[in-house]
Amino acid sequence: MDKIIIYGGEKLKGEVRVSGSKNASLPIIASSLLTEGWNILHNIPDLADITTIKKLLVSLGVQIEGDNPLRINASNITNCEASYDLVKTMRASILVLGPLVARMGRARVSLPGGCAIGARPVNLHLKALKDMGAKIDLRDGYIEAETSKLKGAKIYFDIATVTGTENIMMAATLAEGTTLLENAAREPEVVNLADVLNHMGAKIYGAGTTMIKIEGVESLHPVEDTIMPDRIEAGTYMIAAGLTGGDVKILECEPAHLDALINKLNEAGMDITILNGGLRVAGGKKIISVDIKTLPYPGFPTDLQAQMMVLMALGNGISVVRETVFENRFMHVNELMRMGADITVEENSAIVRGVPMLRGAPVMATDLRASASLILAGLVACGKTELSRVYHIDRGYECIEKKLSSLGARIERVRG
Ligand code: UD1
Repeated sequence: MDKIIIYGGEKLKGEVRVSGSKNASLPIIASSLLTEGWNILHNIPDLADITTIKKLLVSLGVQIEGDNPLRINASNITNCEASYDLVKTMRASILVLGPLVARMGRARVSLPGGCAIGARPVNLHLKALKDMGAKIDLRDGYIEAETSKLKGAKIYFDIATVTGTENIMMAATLAEGTTLLENAAREPEVVNLADVLNHMGAKIYGAGTTMIKIEGVESLHPVEDTIMPDRIEAGTYMIAAGLTGGDVKILECEPAHLDALINKLNEAGMDITILNGGLRVAGGKKIISVDIKTLPYPGFPTDLQAQMMVLMALGNGISVVRETVFENRFMHVNELMRMGADITVEENSAIVRGVPMLRGAPVMATDLRASASLILAGLVACGKTELSRVYHIDRGYECIEKKLSSLGARIERVRG
């Protein structure tokens, strides 16, 4: 298995371009299932999760050509089953459920099962589909959904779920009548999906707020569209720049999506300048310890919690990092402690006492964002850090070692 080797201590300098968003690409690729004819999608990142959703669509009978742009034609859906093998490698495979039920009147999708960062159930997706008139059974580890025609309904999400909002928004586009989603997720990826669906001819109003209204239409048509920049990738490079005391321009990103992080990095002593189509982050002063609480958008993203904890590990005091979105999302803590960080976890809080330096060590990635945090720690650690199980990072960061080395980091991938 591949490893990533890092020799820490270099200040990052230069420019880095942000790739298309993984979490926007996945639902938008799934939304092609609602149309007949060729959809053309630009700015699709080259990631393992994208390969997985392409395989999943191909297994449903969908034609796929190219990578970026990606061309998708779902005129002939020959199979409505998402197998366990595909779903188990990527929970977001659940995103085919809503479109399949809406277009085909049925779907059989493996239950995602456990996940490294918590239970992550899909009960809210299923309840919403039931509210829209689908018959839902759980059999042999699969969700079986059936309906003659989905009906518009008023749906209240107990928790603002991102993929839940996306799944039901897609399903509602072809339902009979109007659907109201209350306590909907407000993430920019939901807005990107709604924009694409509207270009397909859907009637979605209010995406980006907690109340989304969808008026069902008879059919949708294919589109040519562009995926938004990946705000989590951008945020990871922003933290890396500040952490190493570097000076980096992060280009082709949307600063408006990063307000919570910009605010925290300013508090922590970084200098941030908004540029046209990007931003510049400069560190170098002492890192001020700040408290962090993860929240749904527009709060501080849970997907940047692990990376921010590395910055706080080198802070000038004590920082409390509270994770309120997922339980069990502190698996990076033990690995960071092996690199010299001083962190105590109490329930959903990590108390991070700043230390003067981290030391390189062999570490193991446990999930996507945890592996990003270990790479960041390696960039500032004294000596060599060897990261194994890098397939986690390949799920969500395009060419991370190439992008970081272009900024001056001493990082390489060793094929194994
Ligand atoms: C999405 C993102 C992921 C991000 C997360 C939170 C994608 C592909 N993934 O994941 O990167 O970390 O949002 O910003 O976009 N929940 C339930 N029942 C449900 C659904 C969710 O209890 O039916 C709970 C979850 O366990 C979690 C919370 O709701 O505690 C939020 O999860 P959710 O927003 O659904 O995360 P994902 O959409 O899986």
